[in-house]
Amino acid sequence: MSDSFDPMFSVQGKIVLISGAGNGLGRAIAIGLAARGAKVGALDFASDQVQEVCDEIISQGGIATPLVADVRDTAALASCLEKLIEKFGVPEIVIAAAGINRRGTAVEMLDKDWQDVIDVNLTGSWNLVRLAAAEMIKAKVQGSMIFISSVASLVGITTGIANYSASKGGINSLTRTLAMEWATLGIRVNAIAPTHFRTPMLEKAISLNPEGAEYFTRNIPLGRLGQPEELVGTIVYLSSAASSMVTGIVLAVDGGHTAR
Ligand SMILES: NC(=O)c1ccc[n+]([C@@H]2O[C@H](COP(=O)([O-])OP(=O)(O)OC[C@H]3O[C@@H](n4cnc5c(N)ncnc54)[C@H](O)[C@@H]3O)[C@@H](O)[C@H]2O)c1
Repeated sequence: MSDSFDPMFSVQGKIVLISGAGNGLGRAIAIGLAARGAKVGALDFASDQVQEVCDEIISQGGIATPLVADVRDTAALASCLEKLIEKFGVPEIVIAAAGINRRGTAVEMLDKDWQDVIDVNLTGSWNLVRLAAAEMIKAKVQGSMIFISSVASLVGITTGIANYSASKGGINSLTRTLAMEWATLGIRVNAIAPTHFRTPMLEKAISLNPEGAEYFTRNIPLGRLGQPEELVGTIVYLSSAASSMVTGIVLAVDGGHTAR
């Protein structure tokens, strides 16, 4: 894989653990980091999908290993971490991208839908980063944690997503708190808040909306939805020495959505 990138932005040889790598944003990030020489532990509960992503990376000359776990299951996550450490070493870059969306107005939302979204998006991300941090701290490995938040944590984008917005608001608080807690250990913690990106999660929302993609594009000043690959540059920035003085931020990658 290419070594010709600016060294300031290099992730060459870095060991990465990424959840939600089987599809959507996580998949694009896994492929994008591997293309830049990172060794990728691609984690998802969709075992076939995560295997496909790793096969694709390896077929392009990259380095990746599939890790299968539900982010709600701490024992399964711990066993994935053990596998990753055995194969590549202790992760230096940890990206929490696994997430779900279950819609319902505040009055009608099912308790289960509230709980599932909080469990996967907030608690699942928490599980991943704290288990990884324990290994990093034990091995004195410095690095970068990146949460995938959402513009839904920063502005009221639509109705029927109270569970989702609350989970992402929790992520922003975790970002700041963990950034403080781990700063002196050389572990930076940041979050990215994307606007609407074309992934299976968004395609489903588009298919359920009478106005389709137009509904989601309307609030984006750049006038279009994001493509998953367009998140890779920000991930490379937050993963590399280019952002060595950056911790505790929520960085909107939103085509101007929150500038309105
Ligand atoms: N697509 C967007 O427009 C958008 C915008 C803002 C934020 N986000 C966030 O980005 C992240 C990725 O979203 P996406 O659009 O790529 O979704 P997606 O549904 O396309 O992909 C999510 C991936 O996470 C995996 N996953 C779900 N639950 C899991 C669990 N419990 N354990 C392990 N893996 C699990 C799925 O199998 C899938 O591979 C989510 O946190 C989402 O909230 C997405």
